[in-house]
Amino acid sequence: MKKVEVNIPGKNYSVLIEQHLFDRLEKIILSKKSNKNLFIVIDKKVLELHRTKIIRFVSNFPGKYFIHEFVSDESNKSFTSADKMYSNLISQKFGRDTLMLAIGGGITGDIAGFVASTFARGIQFIQIPTTLLAAIDSSIGGKTGINFSETKNIIGTFYQPEMVLIDTGFLKTLPEEEIICGIGEILKYAFLIDQKFFVTLRNNLSKLIKLDASFTSKIIELCIQFKGDIVVADEKEGSLRKILNLGHTFAHAIEIEQNYKIKHGKAVIIGLVCALDLSRRMEILDKKLFEEYLQLPLLLRNFISIDNFDADHIYEVMKRDKKGNNNSIKFVLINSIGEILVDVEAEESEVLQSIQQGIGYFKK
Ligand SMILES: NC(=O)c1ccc[n+]([C@@H]2O[C@H](COP(=O)([O-])OP(=O)(O)OC[C@H]3O[C@@H](n4cnc5c(N)ncnc54)[C@H](O)[C@@H]3O)[C@@H](O)[C@H]2O)c1
Repeated sequence: MKKVEVNIPGKNYSVLIEQHLFDRLEKIILSKKSNKNLFIVIDKKVLELHRTKIIRFVSNFPGKYFIHEFVSDESNKSFTSADKMYSNLISQKFGRDTLMLAIGGGITGDIAGFVASTFARGIQFIQIPTTLLAAIDSSIGGKTGINFSETKNIIGTFYQPEMVLIDTGFLKTLPEEEIICGIGEILKYAFLIDQKFFVTLRNNLSKLIKLDASFTSKIIELCIQFKGDIVVADEKEGSLRKILNLGHTFAHAIEIEQNYKIKHGKAVIIGLVCALDLSRRMEILDKKLFEEYLQLPLLLRNFISIDNFDADHIYEVMKRDKKGNNNSIKFVLINSIGEILVDVEAEESEVLQSIQQGIGYFKK
């Protein structure tokens, strides 16, 4: 079993990675002496695909449990869905001694984490990510949230889990589209970690698309180690943690402008291309590196297609994004791999050109 420690002061936790790890969940909960009243928020699709293993776990578990099924969709990452979770927690008589399990992708983890952090002023919470994206990114670091009024993740909390348990067996049922989405966030790390990671990824992308077991688990571990270190250094996103938003100012706005018809991970791939373009346009990134870096996200071009888009609308949505203050949009841009600039302001005309150019690569 692989183990990464996230040593946040006052809230240390482990991220465990192994195939079939879920089968040991009962032992893990009991040995940690965690609460035994389980409120399980589970992605409906995951329950359908992995029913036997989930039911085996709950029927053997020596405590109370309730299964709350959640249909994962950005439009359900909402107050209405959170309301249903609070209502079930109350009607099923769960109290402060509850352990919430979030079993699913990033949407399930984000909303369940938000409810866990606010119900009864905070209950114990374990993340069990079942998508590649959630395994390498969203389940780590304690950002929880819901979408509101055309703004992604605008309502939320920082709330660290008791632990993150990654059973790579769950990933086997992922459709190719979701693997590509997970790779989207992994590409972000390629620009953050180091040249070696970038080259390894570029030369082995097909292994990741096929979810080659040992390569995938190595990549998961490296991404988690990197994110964990960043979160430990800057839990509440004072400055350093902002580098993890590379490509995301564009991505969130594209998702909203496209009415969530494009999935988050794919929007991140397009957003990274827009961020590279803006970095080049503002002469932060030199031409030779730009051309080298661009090759990586463009390897996934055949998996993504955008029909029509309205660059002005995307720009308006960006202005509303929570990362902007005083109406100025702050960008995360790249000088070279591992050399990231945060809080960069840019001319509207240059941003609009980067939106046109960046999304243009993926136009049908
Ligand atoms: N909190 C953070 O730090 C953070 C970081 C990155 C992204 N996010 C958020 O994560 C969300 C995206 O996460 P996601 O891509 O995992 O989306 P998701 O949760 O919607 O999962 C994607 C799809 O895969 C299905 N699925 C899940 N597990 C499966 C499995 N094992 N087999 C088959 N199908 C499965 C789901 O039903 C869904 O249709 C976005 O809302 C984004 O904002 C949060």
